[in-house]
Amino acid sequence: MDILVIGGGGREHAIVRKLRESPKVGKLYCLPGNGGISRDAVCAPVGAMDKEGVLAFAKERRVDFVFVAPDDPLGAGMVDFLEGAGLPCFGPNAKAAEIESSKVFSKNLMKKYGIPTADYQVFTQPGAALGYIKQQGKYPVVIKADGLALGKGVVIAQDEAEAAAALKSMMEDRIFGESGSQVVVEEFLTGPEATVLAFTDGKALYPMASSMDHKQAYDGDKGPNTGGMGTVSPNPAYTEDMARRCMEEIFMPTMAAMNAEGRRFKGCLYFGLMLTPDGPKVIEYNCRFGDPETQVVLPRLETDLVDIITAVAEERLSGIHIQWSEKACACVVMASGGYPGSYPKGLEIAGLDEDGQVSGMPEATVFHAGTKLVDGKFCTNGGRVLGVTALGDTLEEALEKAYGAVGSISFEGAMYRKDIGRRKLS
Ligand code: AMP
Ligand code: GLY
Repeated sequence: MDILVIGGGGREHAIVRKLRESPKVGKLYCLPGNGGISRDAVCAPVGAMDKEGVLAFAKERRVDFVFVAPDDPLGAGMVDFLEGAGLPCFGPNAKAAEIESSKVFSKNLMKKYGIPTADYQVFTQPGAALGYIKQQGKYPVVIKADGLALGKGVVIAQDEAEAAAALKSMMEDRIFGESGSQVVVEEFLTGPEATVLAFTDGKALYPMASSMDHKQAYDGDKGPNTGGMGTVSPNPAYTEDMARRCMEEIFMPTMAAMNAEGRRFKGCLYFGLMLTPDGPKVIEYNCRFGDPETQVVLPRLETDLVDIITAVAEERLSGIHIQWSEKACACVVMASGGYPGSYPKGLEIAGLDEDGQVSGMPEATVFHAGTKLVDGKFCTNGGRVLGVTALGDTLEEALEKAYGAVGSISFEGAMYRKDIGRRKLS
């Protein structure tokens, strides 16, 4: 099978590398890909949102299957478009992808079907939202833009002034464009966070190995929110008992709810969970693999990924047995100085061999997130640059190997957290 992956970040690199392990895979393509991915798949400068361009490429290369990884093409109907042209895909159609692309839709879905989540209200006017927040008088309070905002559309306001500022920038200044036409104001939840990705074809749902993201930019969970600065799998707070509860109270009810709404979800459904003292609650759904969660979850997958994604597309997932490695996995993101704000690009990365890996350290894998090749050299080309990843018999061993490899990579201004996987889970 010749497979085309859409996207060009660390997640897509992890997907491409896992697909390469399959004896069933012939040619691998990735659009647009990046410098590191081009070592493992044929990349071309076709944007992930360019439906016509993707279809033309897939036809020309006679691709058999398309894996659409990022949220924006999924939300914009890439799968509907390609399937309409006769190409089988992994990923939800636009109606199902709305579980991520509209927070108002997903909150209302949870309320309607009794799926545990933070209490909330939806507002279309900043004045009304602020009035409600003042009347509640409970801080911190969480304010979320309705639509996609590159993971930056959530503000945890500590007081009235911060809440007012957040509402103004989202709803009046429209810093996230139309995404700010509606906001969700919700209760602040506490507890360890966990991410659980699940394969589902709308009939069966199989949770993958659990993981934990580290969203804040700096050590000790300080600083601004990012797309994710590092991950570990399994998530130490996600016990077997918790997994059973989540399956019964959250995962299966979500699949059933989407079916009942006529929005059968096929692909990878991402559950962002808060394990609160009152039980697990949904913080957010995503309609796709997480980034950088994928980088620690897929290395632990022992079943052929091609068997799973084709089964999902053909709605016969219940016949597949999915096996996970007992090993732990850790990923440390190396980011550009200044991320998540503005940062330079085009800086040469030292310490990578011609495959984009750290030579002499086969125990670590470097997933490329924002790199490009310039005259045969890897250079920075994004906020998150590399996801340095390792498996180990224990989390400690995985972290040691990942940080060992991080130590031999450098570029000007490189920034990474030193405390991935070391969070206290009280
Ligand atoms: P989201 O983009 O919805 O995942 O939100 C980003 C981050 O904000 C989450 O990973 C949480 O750490 C935090 N967050 C979101 N909603 C809440 C909430 N209701 N209570 C506490 N923290 C939250
Ligand atoms: N790491 C969080 C996300 O992919 O949205």
